[in-house]
Amino acid sequence: MEATPSEGPYPLSDLKADVPVASAGEFAPLQIGPLAVWPPVVWAPMAGVTNLPFRAMCREYGAGLFLSEMITARGFLLGNRLSVLLASSDPGESPRSVQVYGSDPKDLGEMVRALVAEGVDHLDINFGCPVPKVTRSGNGSAIPVKPRLMARLVSSMVRNAGDVPVTVKMRMGIDEDLITYLEAGRIAEQEGAAAVGLHGRTASQLYSGEADWNSIAELKSHVSIPVLGNGDIWESWDALRMMRETGCDGVIVGRGCLGRPWLFRELADVFDGRMPATPPGLNEIVDVMVDHAERLSDFFGEVMGMRQMRKWVSWYTKGFTGSAQLRSGLRHLERVDQLRPLFAGQNLEEPFPRRALRIGRAKGSKKQRVKLPDGYLDDLTDDTPPRGPHTLAEIEAWERSLSGG
Ligand SMILES: Cc1cc2nc3c(=O)[nH]c(=O)nc-3n(C[C@H](O)[C@H](O)[C@H](O)COP(=O)(O)O)c2cc1C
Repeated sequence: MEATPSEGPYPLSDLKADVPVASAGEFAPLQIGPLAVWPPVVWAPMAGVTNLPFRAMCREYGAGLFLSEMITARGFLLGNRLSVLLASSDPGESPRSVQVYGSDPKDLGEMVRALVAEGVDHLDINFGCPVPKVTRSGNGSAIPVKPRLMARLVSSMVRNAGDVPVTVKMRMGIDEDLITYLEAGRIAEQEGAAAVGLHGRTASQLYSGEADWNSIAELKSHVSIPVLGNGDIWESWDALRMMRETGCDGVIVGRGCLGRPWLFRELADVFDGRMPATPPGLNEIVDVMVDHAERLSDFFGEVMGMRQMRKWVSWYTKGFTGSAQLRSGLRHLERVDQLRPLFAGQNLEEPFPRRALRIGRAKGSKKQRVKLPDGYLDDLTDDTPPRGPHTLAEIEAWERSLSGG
């Protein structure tokens, strides 16, 4: 008999009570060029989140492929301090995966060459960012609307990457009237991408509603390169469900790991056919937070690290008793040694709250009307690279205003 999640102590949401863990041989490692990734899990690139300290932490919980947040090619090439820091790695990070963001084939090619020379193992390009500032200039999720432009960009990366695999990450399209993912998948394949990742929402949907997993199945039947499914994997069971329902080759996990790095251990467990261990209670989570705060402070400096830590504390404590009250004190958090005392009045014996398993994190439920440049849709065969931020000052302002997507 296969173990089902209703057995054992795991505080599982009822929704998943009928999902069996993987049986032996049910899933194969995800093949991205020469990389065989097991479990077939890719950590989603997330701006302001997937920096080296958090990647290192998650890696200690489980295996998979851990992507950097998006790094602006132009910023990286101009030596912008933050772009270079965010693209950096350490010798322990293997395989090393970097997500590139840019819309000039020359810049992309140059950045790819530099990263390959540094020993990067995998490169991804972001064609899914829905942020108005990005799409308004024809970047991010606006790019797949112009197939020839997209082809130029992917091709430039692939040509310059040599044996290092390049993957594409995208959304379903701009909105329900402008769906692009099937053609974009075909272009990715044709231009030599090693795999294609699809977030089952349009740019207009942002993070609202539920991701459309049917689109992932559709894409899978449309291309012969591996397909990575993305959207709404909150629990390890969702990853199994997505793989089984869509036939995708691997999953990309985003918001589910915010304040829950042990999700990677759970994913490794269920793909290896084991029931996952019970998630940590508050006591252990406080230790995890302090460890996280120390790592961020070492990497970014204490001021910047602790400023970032404020959002992390609110994610780590989601669903725990008194968490709303706790969040109100976070704006004063400036030093690592202030973190533990924040929990002085809490019941540290509180177990991980079942209700927190599927609480949304980081992004709200609003939708948007996607802003494109004037006349953008007049000539879809145009392959002129859109203008993005160019000078160092423009790049710095740009990076401050981005939160990915
Ligand atoms: C805070 C945040 C930052 C993000 N930044 C990026 C990014 O830099 N590059 C990218 O391709 N997607 C980015 N995304 C989108 C995620 O990679 C992923 O596609 C999305 O969250 C859907 O997956 P999920 O439902 O598992 O969260 C970001 C998402 C969040 C929540």
